[in-house]
Amino acid sequence: MSSAPPIRIPDGFVEELKARIRPSDVIGRKVKLTKKGKEWVGLSPFTAEKTPSFYVNDQKRIFKCFSSGMGGDVINFVMETERLSFMEAVEKLAEEAGMALPKASPAAAEEYDHRKRLQAACEAAAEFFEERLRAPEGSGARAYLEGRGLSASSWSKYRLGYAPDDWRRTRAHLHEKGFTDSELLEAGIIKESDRGGEPYDMFRGRLMFPIPDARGGIIAFGGRALQPDAKPKYLNSGDTPLFHKSTVLYRYKAAREALGHGEGGGLIVAEGYMDVIALCEAGFGNAVAPLGTALTEDQLQLIWRAGPEPVMCFDGDRAGLGAAYRALDRALPFAEPGRSVFFVLLPDGMDPDDLIRAKGAGAMAEQLAARLPMSELLWRRERDAEPLDTPERQAGLEARLMAACGHIRHAGVKAAYERDLKSRLRDYLWQLREAKRAANYQKRPGKPGRPGSAQILSEGEPAQEVLKQGAREKIGGLSLVLRAIDNPGLLAIGAEMLAQCAFADADVVRLRDAVLDLANDGIPIDRGTITAHLANSGNIRAAGLLKDYPVTPQIATNGSEAREWLIALEQYVAMRRSSDQETGFGTDSASADPTLSPQEWRRQLQKVAERQALKVRMNEASSKRSDS
Ligand code: UTP
Ligand code: MN
Repeated sequence: MSSAPPIRIPDGFVEELKARIRPSDVIGRKVKLTKKGKEWVGLSPFTAEKTPSFYVNDQKRIFKCFSSGMGGDVINFVMETERLSFMEAVEKLAEEAGMALPKASPAAAEEYDHRKRLQAACEAAAEFFEERLRAPEGSGARAYLEGRGLSASSWSKYRLGYAPDDWRRTRAHLHEKGFTDSELLEAGIIKESDRGGEPYDMFRGRLMFPIPDARGGIIAFGGRALQPDAKPKYLNSGDTPLFHKSTVLYRYKAAREALGHGEGGGLIVAEGYMDVIALCEAGFGNAVAPLGTALTEDQLQLIWRAGPEPVMCFDGDRAGLGAAYRALDRALPFAEPGRSVFFVLLPDGMDPDDLIRAKGAGAMAEQLAARLPMSELLWRRERDAEPLDTPERQAGLEARLMAACGHIRHAGVKAAYERDLKSRLRDYLWQLREAKRAANYQKRPGKPGRPGSAQILSEGEPAQEVLKQGAREKIGGLSLVLRAIDNPGLLAIGAEMLAQCAFADADVVRLRDAVLDLANDGIPIDRGTITAHLANSGNIRAAGLLKDYPVTPQIATNGSEAREWLIALEQYVAMRRSSDQETGFGTDSASADPTLSPQEWRRQLQKVAERQALKVRMNEASSKRSDS
């Protein structure tokens, strides 16, 4: 990703560079400095201090930050604040100081100049695209950006542009700027015609995302089609002497700077350009993305160079889960004390851009806070790879887990993973046995279980479902059942509907059944009694759902919240109806039409309550009959 020439910096060059640069000039661009005697003083760029304790001394050519304890020369300052390597910082400062970098050979010098030239071509193209976005022909692209919530200030911030919908306009413009076809071809801005004609523009009629390298110079482009059905959706520069997509991350330099200092943490890695921009606009400036390919080892190393604990925030779809698994396999060998990778899998097939637009930055922050460590993702993937119904398969799981640990290079981390995963496995197999025992118990004659209550824990749960739960995502119907547990008064109006709900999650069904069982048996309902009931029947995961869910507020059974609860239940009853049409469900359940007037609503509730009461009386009557 670096465009640095193949050089070894000779002794003396760095000293000369430092001698030529006045530290307060360079540092003064980042920190507002005021003169105080022989020194300059300002607010630390490394901490959030209120009184200045950051000093720059031009005579000694050093800076000293008393609030963070950092200090050093101007190269250290640039390395720290811009998160550059030593070489990158030297090259940047040398360029600013007008010092030619030492060159190993004439060939290397030429190569270096050539790359600078290609970079200048990319820069000129980026400027042209930016200008076109603001021209009349950019109106479609502007409307598109506005539709996606990006205003003119963000166009500038990300240097977004528009490539004219024309075969040779960009080429003609760059010719005028003095670039040759061969330079433009090499920079990937134009393409050779395969029909013997003139070379033509690579990007036409597209929204342009310039891709900067680690020092901020433009080295490539991504171009998004403006029409939803255009193919490809994103067109990216091919590899060029400047750009190897497997070693570049979109917005790396800016994200690294935004990361700041001493907070641990790391970059947020998303999948796409628009995700990075949406994250950044929502206040997560430390977001980067690979360029439409799976994360490579080079990219991982760059990510870790910026911070030790990055978060991979992939789309909440199959592809996103696949990407997370691949990143896991890539990262695992390199796990070290204090260096890892975390994962966020977003709900409902959303990407970060979707989530932020639908639910705001707060929802994104919640997702990030609920990130899964690498060990957890590994465990879930292997656990869910196949059913665990035979000893052979259980041994297979153990073998897979230990094989994965075998890839970890750091002996201490490897041992810790082995311990962690073995203990998870032990606990899990124990739970499985308990659940099975409970299921057998429930199958005994005279103790009929409700449908769904006699299934073995965990069978065939798709991994993604489990991941969503890890992020405390909604499990269909769970919140509704919990409302009833926390507000048993609701059962008077909704027990019947609750019983008819078609919840997809087997443990939500178990939870619901437990509620209804206890209610039928006249046992007072609260979290304690339900937990005990579930635990007694071995439904540990179902009990876990209860434990992990925050207590819901108390509500009145005749108010709007109760009404909303019934409406929500109705959705699940409807699901059942649509999958079970011939039974004629629905004719008897409360009609929870949200358009009802409050009076009509009360009448409906009244009817439901009456039916409920009638049912109870009939049950009582029938049990009395059978008693006598
Ligand atoms: P996505 O299809 O998830 O796009 O591709 P997105 O980022 O959500 O984009 P919007 O919201 O539809 O605009 C993720 C990334 O994969 C690469 C791009 O880098 C994109 O940002 N990609 C996607 C391609 O390179 N080519 C394509 O045709 C599609
Ligand atoms: Mn998107």
